[in-house]
Amino acid sequence: MSEEASRPAEQRMARHLAEHGSGPTDVGPVTAALLGREERVGSTLYRPEVAFVRGAGAYLYDADGREYLDFMAGIGVASLGHAHPGLSDAIRRQADRLVVCPQSQGNDVRTEFLERLVALAGAPLTRAFLCNSGSEANEAAVKWARAATGRKKVVAAKRGFAGRTLGALSLTWESAYRQPFEPLPNEVEFVAFGDVPALEAALDATTAAFVVEPIQGEGGVHVAPPGYLERARELTAEHGALLVLDEVQCGSGRTGAFLTAHALNVAPDVVTLAKGLAGGVPIGATLMTEAVANAMPRGGHGTTFGGNPLACAAGLAVLDALEREDLLANAATMGERLTAGLRAVASPRVRDVRGRGLMVGMELRERVGPVVKGLRERGLLTVAAGATVVRFLPPLVIGAAEVDRAVEFVAAELRA
Ligand SMILES: Cc1ncc(COP(=O)(O)O)c(C=O)c1O
Repeated sequence: MSEEASRPAEQRMARHLAEHGSGPTDVGPVTAALLGREERVGSTLYRPEVAFVRGAGAYLYDADGREYLDFMAGIGVASLGHAHPGLSDAIRRQADRLVVCPQSQGNDVRTEFLERLVALAGAPLTRAFLCNSGSEANEAAVKWARAATGRKKVVAAKRGFAGRTLGALSLTWESAYRQPFEPLPNEVEFVAFGDVPALEAALDATTAAFVVEPIQGEGGVHVAPPGYLERARELTAEHGALLVLDEVQCGSGRTGAFLTAHALNVAPDVVTLAKGLAGGVPIGATLMTEAVANAMPRGGHGTTFGGNPLACAAGLAVLDALEREDLLANAATMGERLTAGLRAVASPRVRDVRGRGLMVGMELRERVGPVVKGLRERGLLTVAAGATVVRFLPPLVIGAAEVDRAVEFVAAELRA
């Protein structure tokens, strides 16, 4: 690619970096020293603003002991918050028993986790492939879709985010991420999210799958409009293509149902999960129907670490907590409280507050980098979703007092 052609992408990337990390600001001396050391030996991709050394529930503590209310949760990962006793005990007990067991060998904890996972997903998603991240889960989904249909073309949504590995990157809309690495391996056609006629036009007899997030996370917290995914289900079926729902961010209970597909009453062929599924231990899962699973020849896909007993034990602890602590209901109730609270923040700087459950976006009429930074300096961690949206992804164990406190932080910041 010529230097000219890559320049807009570089500019967008520079803007992205300014929004996602601009270096340390208001931190104590121990934290600043730690950040400096990490910067000298890290990959140079990131510029962290703060360094955490401990967590408890919805709170994180930096290296100087300063407390932060965590409405970022590792970008939707710490579903049980930090140092949840059930999760810590499960990891500790499993570490003492067995950490390594590849999927070419059977394992008790993995079997139980798979059984619980497919039971929660419900028919027709009766099978699951376990891996280590959202990108990998999406890579696997595309391979299975290609095996099941014998076709190559994938339709994906504009503003969608499917990951950064080359295959998943092909389905990611943001050209700043994609363009420098083209050509990418998948043949992808992008359609506007929520636009049924565009989807009708894109699907054809060469389409293997339509891959879409029910709620776009990185793209700015956009909820699929009513009827869109139902229609996508009908259209993909008509064309013999698979409907793949990327629930890496919105799944695992975050929106008040185990899968957002359940709440929308859509039966996809494939659902991908990761992030919150094991509360922070790396995991990915590609859930699929019997027919899709059977289409892949034995040995057609695989992973060394996927389905390891440690991740499965952590996943089981998360599924246990979702049930015992009634966290789906809590995500729904606290999500409504958070959304209502943010909507009540009377500021002309706010354009919209939207989301579902504990996946909430506040769109501003300005770029949000300084606001996310200001909130952090007040002690509230949030994360940008695109240029103008502040994203709130608290742990599913969050309580009313913490939600109200977060809203107060936001009100104060927007008044400033
Ligand atoms: C919807 C969605 N899909 C896929 C991914 C990629 O997941 P990972 O970073 O675990 O590879 C993400 C990460 O943010 C995501 O939000």
